[in-house]
Amino acid sequence: MHKNKGPVYYGDYLQLPKLLDSQLPLSRKYADQVNGECHDEMLFIVVHQVYELWFKQILHDLDSILAVFHKAFIPEAELSTVVQKLERIKKIQGLLIGQFDVLETMTPMDFLEFRDLLIPASGFQSVQFREIEIKLGLHTNDRQDVDREFFMGRLSEKDRGHLGEVEKLPTLLRSLETWLERLPFTLSGDFNFWQEYQKSIDSILQDDKNIIETNSAHLSDKQKNIQLENLKITRSTFESLFDEKKHLELINNNQRKLSQKAILNALFILLYRHEPMLTIPFQIITSMMDIDENFTTWRYRHALLAQRMLGTKIGTGGSSGHQYLKRAADNNRVFLDLFNLSTFLIPNSRLPQIPLEVKRKMSFNV
Ligand code: HEM
Repeated sequence: MHKNKGPVYYGDYLQLPKLLDSQLPLSRKYADQVNGECHDEMLFIVVHQVYELWFKQILHDLDSILAVFHKAFIPEAELSTVVQKLERIKKIQGLLIGQFDVLETMTPMDFLEFRDLLIPASGFQSVQFREIEIKLGLHTNDRQDVDREFFMGRLSEKDRGHLGEVEKLPTLLRSLETWLERLPFTLSGDFNFWQEYQKSIDSILQDDKNIIETNSAHLSDKQKNIQLENLKITRSTFESLFDEKKHLELINNNQRKLSQKAILNALFILLYRHEPMLTIPFQIITSMMDIDENFTTWRYRHALLAQRMLGTKIGTGGSSGHQYLKRAADNNRVFLDLFNLSTFLIPNSRLPQIPLEVKRKMSFNV
């Protein structure tokens, strides 16, 4: 056991004097302008500080996850620690979403009492929030034109410089992509999983076509044609998985982010998630989706908070307020490709047979 050289005191170890002396309401400083210190400004400050502390912990865990993904070979045990840390981030996100309840005990009227003193400070200037976004995979160039100005525009030169450096580092999205691309099971000897999968899709779509054509006595010609047209669209969506040109078009239009190989391998993991070697990859993919979903939930919840507090007023950082935040929630998804994979799932009964030799490779009893 490690022994300390001197006694440790609770408050010193946690630097509590510094921490607890860091809540300085502006309404105290400008008490004469606002008829005395506003009681709820303390809550406003504490809640923001707690958020920033949790952002710090998320970044701490995110950095260690990224360090594992940077390795050329990732041992199984390290992947388990990745899963554990992703789980922790999800739990923290739960707290971040729940904390809005506490802040909402402050009424819009109470907020109005000190809000103008904050101008032009704004959540836009939360460097840690931006750092999390960037490290997950949301770069300035991924933003819509209108949002790009706000992404970095309200920051000091020093903070902008720091985030500029962060943008040069590999992100979780790109690390996941490289790792997925390395999955070895879909091509082995004569076995080409994707050829077999396409045959299954063809037969499923042919069955659907037969159902429309033979069992549609109750449908008018117009309804029948609409259903056949929809089936063509489904076929073309499936084709976009395998057609490199279509895939690149989707990437250029910002509708897909991951490489074709990474997407196909992620789909393989979802389809064969019960195979022993794929359970951890499945947990990783699921956790990334959960984190994306939690972030989006946080954004919508925050947009609603802003609407509750401000109505249609603009934010202290100069954006359209609720409208801006709602748009950011709709557009800033990191792992949307993983969500969209559900389009390509097929029932177990129609899955291609995996040759025994590949099945063996996917189990631990080799
Ligand atoms: C009374 C409470 C709050 C109100 C009315 C509010 C309002 C707003 C508004 C209107 C914006 C858009 C930028 C602007 O024009 O200023 C914004 C951005 C932001 N706020 Fe809040 N906010 C509140 C609390 C919080 C809390 C507790 C956090 C936690 C850290 C937070 C974090 C952020 C972040 C990170 C952004 C940038 C979002 C983005 O650009 O996607 N806000 N907030």
